[in-house]
Amino acid sequence: MAAAQTSRPAVPENDRFDGIDLLSLGNTQATPFYAYSANAIRQRIAGLQHALAGMDAAVCFAVKANPTLAILQLMAEAGVGADIVSCGELRRSLRAGIPASRIVFSGVGKSDAEIAEALEAGVGRFNVESADELEALQRIAHQRDVIARAAVRINPDVDARTHGKISTGKAENKFGVSIDEARQWFADAGRRGNVRLDGLHMHIGSQILELEPMRQALRRLAAFWRELSEDGHRIDSIDVGGGLGVVYRKGHDRPVELQGYVQAIKEALAGFEGRVILEPGRYLVAEAGVLLTRVIRVKGNDKRRFLVVDAAMNDLLRPSLYDAWHDIEKVASGEGRAQVSVAYDIVGPVCETGDTLATARMLPPCAAGDLLAIRGAGAYGASMSSTYNSRPLIAEVLVDDGRYALIRRGQSFEEMVAGEQAATSWRAL
Ligand code: LLP
Repeated sequence: MAAAQTSRPAVPENDRFDGIDLLSLGNTQATPFYAYSANAIRQRIAGLQHALAGMDAAVCFAVKANPTLAILQLMAEAGVGADIVSCGELRRSLRAGIPASRIVFSGVGKSDAEIAEALEAGVGRFNVESADELEALQRIAHQRDVIARAAVRINPDVDARTHGKISTGKAENKFGVSIDEARQWFADAGRRGNVRLDGLHMHIGSQILELEPMRQALRRLAAFWRELSEDGHRIDSIDVGGGLGVVYRKGHDRPVELQGYVQAIKEALAGFEGRVILEPGRYLVAEAGVLLTRVIRVKGNDKRRFLVVDAAMNDLLRPSLYDAWHDIEKVASGEGRAQVSVAYDIVGPVCETGDTLATARMLPPCAAGDLLAIRGAGAYGASMSSTYNSRPLIAEVLVDDGRYALIRRGQSFEEMVAGEQAATSWRAL
């Protein structure tokens, strides 16, 4: 009689990350470090471009989500432009090969020097957020004898129903101007000979997981465009901003379907013959990134079990700043992951209680040296990091089909203190 096949309990496979297993990847560099999947980013771009096919649409990546040059190069290769908010982001985008004509300049506090530099570079357009900025743009463009293309950023007064710190489309937020004010800008556009005000812009917030607020804002924006057209104002571009949410917590977060979002844009802007601009940041890169970190210590008391890991709030600020959830996994060979889980608070070495990456997270038992993967770290991870507690900025690695390349080396101590000096050369005022 044939022996019955003994079925062993299913042992989870080690995670693959763009053709490399995470455990091996973790051994390539000193932890902590960020790793991004080039193919995951390419797929997001291609999916968005596919959904927009047939429309006169341009995708401008919100550089603040991930400004690393190699990531911007992936954008450039795919024909994606940039949404920038500083000259640092302008220079990065240009250096990565994004043409100036595909760059839009957003932001509530552009300095005169930044406006001048962006004009000189020839950026595609300025998303203007206040009457003062509009006057500054006119003045600086006049001095240089050029014509600036501009869009007015509308604040549609819509609640994006996201975290308060990343909600931008309510009247009490600092962003944009009311439709009433924008109407005035168009009425006296003739006064400003060096600004061609022919665009509308909005961005109501980030990590938006419901279509309805987006629809509502789009309807307000579209109604204003129709009103302007009837009054004889030509609108060449409408920028609907970014904000598409992603999955940070598998099985819990339900992002807006891309098709539904694009359909909502098409419906709201039916009959519009100019260019539609989208400014996604997070959507293109968040889920393509992991932060790899190792356990330094395991400690506990009668209330809590702590995993003290080598990544901290200075490397990934989102949990401390927004109470953001990031899925965290133990990266181990099958057996190491198959054990019964334990609740851990996952904390960094920084000296404040806010340095908590996750609370009461269920993981297989961990020991010093074990590798953890913090998911959803491709957007607003490295870009928001600091050297708090004199911890140098960490490395970033790009993975592409089974290969990996260092795209930013970890900062050295000398690089961290470069620019500092003893107070020896005093000057009197
Ligand atoms: N356009 C403008 C004018 C923006 O201000 C932003 C983001 C975007 C586009 C891109 O938004 P996204 O598609 O990534 O949602 N640090 C926060 C997010 C701040 C977003 C700021 N503005 C976080 O970690 O959640």
